[in-house]
Amino acid sequence: MEYNRRKFISFLGKASIGTVVLPPFLVSCGNMSNPTEKNLKSSSEVLDKLRNLAIEGLFPSNKDDLLLANGLDYHVIVRWADKISEEDHFGFNNDFTCFIPFDEENPTDGLLWVNHEYVNPMFVSGFDSSKHENPDTHRTKEQVDKEMYNVGGSIVRIKQTDGKWKVVQNDPYNRRITAKTPIQLNWDHPIKGSSTVIGTHSNCSGGITPWKTFLTCEENYDSFFGETVYDKDDQPTHRDSSQGWEKFYNYPPEHYGWVVEVDPKTGSAQKHIAIGRYAHECCTLYELNDKRVVAYSGDDKNNEHLYKFISSKPGSLKEGTLYVADTINGKWLPLDWESQPLLKERFKDQTEVLIRAREAAKILGATELNRPEDIEIDPLTGNVFVSLTNNYGKNDFHGSILKIEETNGKYDALTFKAYSYMAGGEENGFSCPDNLAFDMAGNLWFTSDMSGSKMNKEDGPYMAFKNNSLFVIPRHGEEEGKVIRLASAPLDAELTGPWFSPDGKTLFLSVQHPGEQTKDLANPTSAWPFDEDGIPKPSVVAITGNLIEKMNKLHLLEKS
Ligand code: FEO
Ligand code: CA
Ligand code: CA
Ligand code: CA
Repeated sequence: MEYNRRKFISFLGKASIGTVVLPPFLVSCGNMSNPTEKNLKSSSEVLDKLRNLAIEGLFPSNKDDLLLANGLDYHVIVRWADKISEEDHFGFNNDFTCFIPFDEENPTDGLLWVNHEYVNPMFVSGFDSSKHENPDTHRTKEQVDKEMYNVGGSIVRIKQTDGKWKVVQNDPYNRRITAKTPIQLNWDHPIKGSSTVIGTHSNCSGGITPWKTFLTCEENYDSFFGETVYDKDDQPTHRDSSQGWEKFYNYPPEHYGWVVEVDPKTGSAQKHIAIGRYAHECCTLYELNDKRVVAYSGDDKNNEHLYKFISSKPGSLKEGTLYVADTINGKWLPLDWESQPLLKERFKDQTEVLIRAREAAKILGATELNRPEDIEIDPLTGNVFVSLTNNYGKNDFHGSILKIEETNGKYDALTFKAYSYMAGGEENGFSCPDNLAFDMAGNLWFTSDMSGSKMNKEDGPYMAFKNNSLFVIPRHGEEEGKVIRLASAPLDAELTGPWFSPDGKTLFLSVQHPGEQTKDLANPTSAWPFDEDGIPKPSVVAITGNLIEKMNKLHLLEKS
């Protein structure tokens, strides 16, 4: 029987559920399957092989190392402060990664986007901890400038040679986007007097568009330039940030908290106002048959919400309607000033509704969720999976994964059903799910985000789980539905940004904030990645090996 990857994945979906729905644009970037493939095949021989995959998971560990299950290896591709060109170096705290090959026929040469979410001033701006000064009150403008340079994102050309991915030094495509890069607003009205704003920061997770550009999402934006808050009479005041950048740069908070799109080849960027302003974890797009797009995004804050934008024009992230989820009644509620009297009463126009999306969502009765983080579309069922990390205030320490079934599998439906797919906790072996990624066979990979200050503490809820980790839930075979730990992070670190290469043979992964709890640079809590200087460095790694290829069923695709 003849198989190629697309036919095979379609077959998997058909065998499992009946329809496969992922848009073709995700296939070429390594994020699995093709919904439109009609030429389906089946084979009992293949199904038998799928049932025979034993995976030996890791036990929880508190070792200061990136540990991997048998059958996996890693190498570091790029680390904080590495030169990427004559002018630029790689930023701090790498999170979301996204790889786009130049040519779909050659999956080993392309552009890697990496988010740089925030900085630890002790490492980045030379704050001297021995002086026992508070970095938030004793920083100079020069120190803040260094911090502003180290957030945003990096574009680096990477190539795989002899099994190893390396940055192509000084490639003309290598560049930085920082908290000082001018960025256009994709909106007809200026915000706080500007249509071009300065910089992006708080870039947590992201996504990819059908037209092959990167999406990078501004999450905890209020940490850098604060927030405008309103009292009961709707009078605004400024709430200070924790990092204190506004002491040197008086940029309006309203310029941050958006989804930002970056052109991989030019580096030009725009902020998409129509998707709303809140602590965006990610932005996950689906392209409808008529080329309109649906964009899902969660607000990673306790008791905030899940949103989706449905465009009214092909390929637009500006024309359309933003909705917020009422998960109890299964309704998408339009955040539309024109048609919602309650919003007209409170806000002066649609721009204000989008800037103050959280308040608008609450006015309409959106459901409070426990920190909605990453979102992915299941290639086997078409359902939308959402990580709910935790909510200490509601005694939800371990979080869960939410499953959304859109009515009739239509992504532009305005009704849906919501279920809890899996809860965190000792019985399932994981806590605090954050980033999600489906592989080509529909296995669900995810990372955990237990807070560094609470991990490995005897009196806390996370002791049993030890270090943050990478897990997989197989969707086939004897291990189906089990949670298996495949990687364990260095001390204080979080694994983020899982993204498969187009050939399914590499998992790109960020190791973020190793040694985050360090109080003295001479004595850091982690030494990973074990450089001579002993300083822990956030880095992007490539995970390869037999196990990853088996999980992706690549051995079944090679030939027959
Ligand atoms: Fe930056 Fe929601 O994690
Ligand atoms: Ca995250
Ligand atoms: Ca993801
Ligand atoms: Ca997180």
